[in-house]
Amino acid sequence: MTEPDQDRRSDLHRVRSTSFGRSVTAYAAARPSYPAEAVAWLVPPGARDVVDLGAGTGKLTAGLVALGGLRVTAVEPDECMRAALSAALPDVDARRGTAEDTGLPDASADVVTVGQAWHWFDPEAATREVARVLRPGGTLALVWNVLAEGVSAWADAYFEIVHRGDTLDYSRREDPVAGPQVGPWERTEVVWTRTIRPEELRALAASRSHLIAMSPPDRDVLLAEVDALWRTHPDLVGRTSAELPYVTRCWRARTVTAP
Ligand SMILES: C[S@@+](CC[C@H](N)C(=O)[O-])C[C@H]1O[C@@H](n2cnc3c(N)ncnc32)[C@H](O)[C@@H]1O
Repeated sequence: MTEPDQDRRSDLHRVRSTSFGRSVTAYAAARPSYPAEAVAWLVPPGARDVVDLGAGTGKLTAGLVALGGLRVTAVEPDECMRAALSAALPDVDARRGTAEDTGLPDASADVVTVGQAWHWFDPEAATREVARVLRPGGTLALVWNVLAEGVSAWADAYFEIVHRGDTLDYSRREDPVAGPQVGPWERTEVVWTRTIRPEELRALAASRSHLIAMSPPDRDVLLAEVDALWRTHPDLVGRTSAELPYVTRCWRARTVTAP
């Protein structure tokens, strides 16, 4: 890749990673939560202090709170996203910070979780920071809700619309990159579906960073296609809701202890 290509990629990455607060209402309303089974897998038995990084509006944070018995701290740089989190989860300690600079004390957490966000971080700086914040032998746990492809024709058509023109490298959600302070990785997946209504499908599309970063006219074209999909796709015509297939990909690794 040439230097200008790399610059364009990192500009795109920066613009999109900081875009979510501009669509906070759509995000909070339409993004799915995480299956309880997946959230439970992220947190090893005996863990007490959990830090949720890039916590957004609190989709994963809420799942952690629901496990019970955990002290959960949320770290989120975007003010609008953090405000939505605090409104939904007033008892959670929500702090301004980034994955690379959390502002949290050394060795203060048993688990650091990251939902739908590790691919937005600088993996080396974030791993260093996570290893600093975790107690020895602590766990870094990553999770992504991903649309399951090849399961339903209408969901594949939706996927094609919302990814049209998207040049972001999504490989970091398939095989996360992290620094040498954690490892080896364990992995599991949870396959599930969610019931979705037409207005939620539109909001789900509108909550994607690809669409948020577009010019309003270009975004409107794609959103109109999402609306048209519901009116015209043979599997959706006349229905008020449908099942959207997901796979939740979970990863966890412990901090590496010196031999
Ligand atoms: C796709 S949202 C995920 C939010 C939430 N974890 C969830 O599961 O719904 C990504 C979040 O990461 C945050 N973010 C982006 N860059 C970040 C960074 N360097 N450190 C911490 N958070 C970051 C964004 O502000 C946004 O709230």
